[in-house]
Amino acid sequence: MNKKPNEVFTPRNPTVNPEMYIERPNLERSLRRAIDGSQHILVHGESGCGKTWLYKRILENDGIVLTVANLGNASRLGGIVNEIENSVAEFSGAIKTGYKETKEAEINAGVARGALTHEGEFETPQIDGLERAFKSLRQQAGKRKCCLVLDNLESIFRNKKLMSELGDIVLLLDDPRYAEYEVKLLIVGVPEGVREYFSRTENRLIVTNRLYEIPEVGSLTPAQLAHFIHTGFIKELGCRLDDEMAKDLCRFAFFITSGVPQMLHEFCLELAYIAEDNHDVITEPMLKSAAAMWLQASLSSSYSAVEEMMNDRSTVAGRRNQVLFALGQVHKDSFNYSDIEAIVRREFPASTAGKTLNISGILSELADRENSLIKRSRKANSYSFVDPKYRMCIRVMLEDRGQRVQKLDIRHIPLLPETSITIPTGLSNIKMHQARHHLGLYLY
Ligand SMILES: Nc1ncnc2c1ncn2[C@@H]1O[C@H](COP(=O)(O)OP(=O)(O)O)[C@@H](O)[C@H]1O
Ligand SMILES: [Mg+2]
Repeated sequence: MNKKPNEVFTPRNPTVNPEMYIERPNLERSLRRAIDGSQHILVHGESGCGKTWLYKRILENDGIVLTVANLGNASRLGGIVNEIENSVAEFSGAIKTGYKETKEAEINAGVARGALTHEGEFETPQIDGLERAFKSLRQQAGKRKCCLVLDNLESIFRNKKLMSELGDIVLLLDDPRYAEYEVKLLIVGVPEGVREYFSRTENRLIVTNRLYEIPEVGSLTPAQLAHFIHTGFIKELGCRLDDEMAKDLCRFAFFITSGVPQMLHEFCLELAYIAEDNHDVITEPMLKSAAAMWLQASLSSSYSAVEEMMNDRSTVAGRRNQVLFALGQVHKDSFNYSDIEAIVRREFPASTAGKTLNISGILSELADRENSLIKRSRKANSYSFVDPKYRMCIRVMLEDRGQRVQKLDIRHIPLLPETSITIPTGLSNIKMHQARHHLGLYLY
């Protein structure tokens, strides 16, 4: 029996589905080597690129005992150590003793605690909490390797106090008293340059020397994406897809999701539901309907942000809209006005011939707006997207209709009557051509 769409495509499920897990041998090898190495590990990559699935898959497969603490809870719980203790207690099912009681008991017992190498960062009970947590992790792991994952680093990245607590934890693990538990830290998060962050703090060399950063967890390659599509739609769902349609689906999916695993699951889920209603057949118009549904379901805040940047009347052949459209067509992470100008001239020849366009002015004006889609990057005169979602959104949302840019209206996506598929307004064949144009470069 075939599975249900939501058993195959699981955009936000933190539990790895082995059937749908796409291997990324380079990343997996780096992570395994890092685990065997002597340093603690940093895993970074944009949200939805598969950091959590990567470490879960590898650690679980390799029989390494892992506990995940969410740094997103640290602030609320008054510190990272508190969150670590919480997750260890949850993991072991142990009932935690309140800090106060423990402290009193220790004072009463006359135990001197707090062998800290530097001052002021911790209260004694927290240190004891850390040791308690490590001890309990080691007990559960027995002789096996044991990792403490600190996930969602981005949530504390701007919090000086918590970042310095994190630095202290890394250092403390060298202290013989903590080192004996042999707990390896796996720090996971969005921001790059975490090493640079620590290098600005007082303990810089000591902290950075203890961290090993594996390569960025990024998008799937076109070949990995093709494997994903094949496994999901053909193997797991039993959809009927001929080779040509499968290629079109891969190109289109890569074009709009940039190969980001979470986005891919989201889009494929929409498409799988449509196919389910249509005897498991997938046709080209369904791709576009699914993209429109995806935009509506998952990218509506990006949609509003793009809409906000557009001219008031979408019927006007506004230069700025042409620029916005062109932004969606760039595939470099960082771009400058001449990249955009080339696209605007190529896509809108009649309205640009013989004219000065002032693209640099338009880009600069866009970047200066509040909640803009683009920001200046470090390299002179270049820009990048504030969030990669904006590019995905523009790719589905805006279309080059002759000399003007047309916006897909996600508030009025026509419902798909069973078996007869209609193309939502604003999405025509042009989109497929754009996808082909781009992916001719990569695929097949
Ligand atoms: N290797 C993979 N193969 C297939 N799907 C994946 C893979 N990695 C991640 N995903 C999908 O992407 C979603 C987001 O992945 P996740 O690991 O939570 O990303 P991150 O932790 O980087 O935000 C997962 O729920 C899953 O649906
Ligand atoms: Mg994650």
